[in-house]
Amino acid sequence: MNKNLLQTELCGMKLNTPIFAASGTFGFGEEFENFVDLQRLGGVMVKCLTPKPRRGNDGVRITETPSGMLNCIGLENPGVEKFLSEILPRIKDKMNVVVNVSGSSVEDYGELAKLLDVDGVAAIELNISCPNVKDGGIIFGTDERQAAKVTSAAKKNTRKPVIVKLSPNVTDITKIARAVENSGADCLSLINTLMGMEINIHTWRPTLGNITGGLSGGAIKPVAVRMVWQVAQAVKVPIIGMGGIRSAADAAEFFLAGASAVAIGTANFSEPSITMKIADDLEIYLQSCGLKNIRELVGKVK
Ligand SMILES: Cc1cc2nc3c(=O)[nH]c(=O)nc-3n(C[C@H](O)[C@H](O)[C@H](O)COP(=O)(O)O)c2cc1C
Repeated sequence: MNKNLLQTELCGMKLNTPIFAASGTFGFGEEFENFVDLQRLGGVMVKCLTPKPRRGNDGVRITETPSGMLNCIGLENPGVEKFLSEILPRIKDKMNVVVNVSGSSVEDYGELAKLLDVDGVAAIELNISCPNVKDGGIIFGTDERQAAKVTSAAKKNTRKPVIVKLSPNVTDITKIARAVENSGADCLSLINTLMGMEINIHTWRPTLGNITGGLSGGAIKPVAVRMVWQVAQAVKVPIIGMGGIRSAADAAEFFLAGASAVAIGTANFSEPSITMKIADDLEIYLQSCGLKNIRELVGKVK
């Protein structure tokens, strides 16, 4: 197999494959060491970090749905300081580390970007789209002006590439995409989860402790492909596409729609080595199309 088929470049980062692990579904990467060649991934988008540690939401946090799952973890994480002092030194030579961050204010995002402008961090992903906590960024991700402010605050404070993660819980995602591109975003990632709800008909109560949660997995793929395609027409910066990818065929749709890379989330729960299988099968697909590199597929939907 030609080893160069999947090699690519994104915001100055040299990637062995354009396949990332999506934030919140892959821990800090180490948990997957026995299942995945971490160096073969484009990178690991680690669990969202906030300025202070968070214990997350109470009650039931995950429930399975037809072709997907609803979660309301609530941004449980050890906080940026512990990440920098204990976790980053352990993981930085093992993988390309993309740090997903979330704040309650514009200043928080600026501060997090500054603190994370250190050796071992490949890029920063701004989570302005968590639907599961009141202060989880969703207000920034659904308002163009706020999204622009958060992006500028982060860009001002770091030399690292800034990836802005967009929410699908909006009427027109291209408006937010353009606003963050104009504020200096180097790359966009999409989509985060779609807000959903399940009710237990025996107790008549919502299943999730948080009442609502974020829907992810196979069920959301057509929505994600549509949004990647729309955003790709609207901006010039590269896109990391995600939402329901479970196979190389799913991933290929995102590249055709205009994504330069993809991220795999929920599928990691049922098959921890799925990212490697997707890389293997994508190589076979590219060869079957007579292509020499994944870049030749990007945006080629007719
Ligand atoms: C359990 C769980 C936790 C998540 N936590 C985060 C997070 O901390 N930050 C973030 O930006 N996205 C988070 N996400 C969203 C995923 O990164 C991804 O955008 C979304 O699930 C769609 O991809 P998928 O269908 O392949 O899972 C989480 C998703 C799940 C299922």
